[in-house]
Parts: sequence; C-alpha cells; structure tokens
Amino acid sequence: MQKLEQVYEGKAKKVFKTDDPELFIVDYKDDATAFNGLKKGTIKGKGVINNQMSNRLMEMLAKKGIPTHFVEELSERETLVKKVSIVPLEVIVRNIAAGSFSKHYGVEEGIKFDEPVLEFSYKNDDLGDPLLNTSHALALKVATKEEIDTIKKYALAVNEALKEFWAKCGVTLVDFKIEFGRTSDGTIILADEISPDTCRLWDSETGEKLDKDRFRRDLGGVEEAYEEVMKRLLNNN
Ligand code: TMP
Repeated sequence: MQKLEQVYEGKAKKVFKTDDPELFIVDYKDDATAFNGLKKGTIKGKGVINNQMSNRLMEMLAKKGIPTHFVEELSERETLVKKVSIVPLEVIVRNIAAGSFSKHYGVEEGIKFDEPVLEFSYKNDDLGDPLLNTSHALALKVATKEEIDTIKKYALAVNEALKEFWAKCGVTLVDFKIEFGRTSDGTIILADEISPDTCRLWDSETGEKLDKDRFRRDLGGVEEAYEEVMKRLLNNN
C-alpha cells in the first residue's frame, strides 16, 4: 500500500491518501492538546499506544457487529482505514458524571447514572464544539434522521461492549467520545479513534485516573497512565 499525499492534519493524527481511492492511512502523533487547542504538549509514546489500542478496540467492536473504519495496522503509528467523510458530531456517552457534565449541571464527579447519558457536540473548533440535540443536528443538516438513529444505536452498543471489556481489565469506563463517518456508498461506520485521549478510564479499585485528564489537569504521570491501560488491555485479552 503506497502512502501518498497528506489530506488532513488534526491535533493528534495525520491522514494520507493511498493508491486505493477507498483507503486512507492514519498516522498517530504524540502531540496533545486540551481546551480547544489552548493547552499544548507532548505525551511521549502516545501515538503508538493510541494507534494500537484503538485498533484492538475496533477489532473487538467489529466482532460485536459494529462496523468500523479499521482495515489493517501497518506500523507502530500507522493504520490503514476505510476512507470516510466524518459526520461533524462528537458523540459522547457517559456512565458516571465527570468533566463538562459535572461542570454544566453542578454535580460531583463520580456519581453513577442509572442509564447511560448520550450527548452530541457540533464538531466545530471555531464555535468551541457546542452541545447540540437531535433537532439542532437535523436543522443544521449535519446528518439525516436515519443516520442519527443509527449513530445513537451504535454509540450505546459501543458503550456496552467497551464497559464490559474495560471491566475485565480492572478499569471503569466513565465516559468517551466517538466519531462516525460515511463511506462512499453512504454507510455509517465508526471512525476516528478510541484511546485514553477520548475516554475517561478510572482504575476500578483505586479510582486513579488513567487517561488524558492527567494531562488536562496537570496531574503528572501522564505517560505512565497510558502505558498502564495499554498493559492491562494486552494482559487481559
Ligand atoms: P467532557 O466531559 O469534557 O465533555 O468530555 C467527555 C469525553 O469526551 C471524555 O471522555 C473526553 C472526551 N473528549 C474528547 O475526546 N475530545 C474533546 O475535545 C473533549 C472536550 C472531550
């Protein structure tokens, strides 16, 4: 597979064309940002961990019937994926109150919900990724009603599968953000990444944070936390 010109560079990844018009190569960086790019840094080895973790999780989800962009891991940092156009929605599922939920609604972090909370943000850095509901998404024509129904169904199925998976690793899945894309024939599939950058992962015993909140909140031990969750994933699967 030939890696051709770069089509996109995001905060954590670069995307390249290949000689197959339906396939892209994603290249994961160690760059980390938070607060819409206001805070910048590097998490050494993050690109390698996020690439491999995301791939293992997507393989697991595919086995559970959730279509994903994953095709083949090419190297430590590079993965061949299906070409999609990203639906500009950040799809967030929460099992436990934390982060912006706690801030917006004035509830303590750590309160467990009876049912998962499903939330959308409009993926738009200039607007600061504002929260939006299904009516907003339809009004903005970011997706059709059918697509949104599919996205919600997949997001809740991803949550169930990830929750169970991480529990076996001694990790509590607090919340996560995923993104979906449309393939050239219009099929909705899971895209982007699933990693400690995009999930809140707490040690089930101690509650220790094992995710990007260590970087966002200057808690120290950032690299060690990424290495720890990756080690647990590999040891338990
Ligand atoms: P939040 O509580 O800050 O809204 O974050 C919810 C989840 O989404 C959390 O697991 C971190 C993840 N997330 C991203 O992946 N990208 C982002 O830009 C933000 C703000 C959150």
